[in-house]
Amino acid sequence: MSGRFDGKAAFVTGATSGIGRATALAFGLEGASVVVADVAPDGNQETARMIEQAGGQSLAVSCNVTRADDIKAALDAAVDRFGRLDIAFNNAGIEQPIKPAAEISDDEWDRLVAVNLRGAFLSMKHEIELMLQHGGGAIVNTSSGAGVKGFKGQAAYAATKHGLIGLTKAPPAPNDRQTGTSSHRRDHLLGDSSRMPVWWPERWASSPRDAVPQEDLSVGRRRWRA
Ligand SMILES: NC(=O)c1ccc[n+]([C@@H]2O[C@H](COP(=O)([O-])OP(=O)(O)OC[C@H]3O[C@@H](n4cnc5c(N)ncnc54)[C@H](O)[C@@H]3O)[C@@H](O)[C@H]2O)c1
Repeated sequence: MSGRFDGKAAFVTGATSGIGRATALAFGLEGASVVVADVAPDGNQETARMIEQAGGQSLAVSCNVTRADDIKAALDAAVDRFGRLDIAFNNAGIEQPIKPAAEISDDEWDRLVAVNLRGAFLSMKHEIELMLQHGGGAIVNTSSGAGVKGFKGQAAYAATKHGLIGLTKAPPAPNDRQTGTSSHRRDHLLGDSSRMPVWWPERWASSPRDAVPQEDLSVGRRRWRA
């Protein structure tokens, strides 16, 4: 198997169904070694099996993104197995029942924030660290149309997805500068995303263009390079 991501290692959360599984398979089909990280162990194994059946390399790891220790262990397992981390797709997310904002319980709110927002933040922290050890990488966070609009009955979900876009837009370090916009393909998941920025640290002199493949599957992408 060979393709655009030959020699790259990709880490995908929320990979036992839906967008995450499809993306994990796509990475595998394009030559990446794929770490499938999800809270659902059976689904994990199944996604990994599908990637391997298609000729790719994969590792299934249990990971609840609300737990920093789980994320760190999953990412460490990724690097142990494949030697590096080039791509991360922080996609694990949950929805909320449609209801008036005043009826969202404190626990529901906390759970949405823990999975959709805090989970991505914790993942990014560790991913950036590992990526910089091997020259950089690309991080994609899955937001939603609810990240740019206020959908009726989805106050908590919309708040987390708006927050996720803020997290993705914020320069990773104070001196980083904006270098342009990310790829045209982000609108697959978020129609109004064409102006999402790509940040580039001042200390990294060379062009970001060769840092990672330019193709993109999601709503917000970051590139880092040491
Ligand atoms: N499906 C849509 O229409 C749509 C639209 C916009 C955005 N999104 C976002 O896309 C992402 C994927 O959505 P989907 O429709 O494929 O959903 P899905 O329910 O099919 O997949 C979500 C995955 O996240 C995993 N997950 C849930 N909680 C987790 C946790 N704590 N730790 C690790 N994994 C966990 C689940 O096991 C599952 O594999 C989500 O972030 C969602 O908010 C989906």
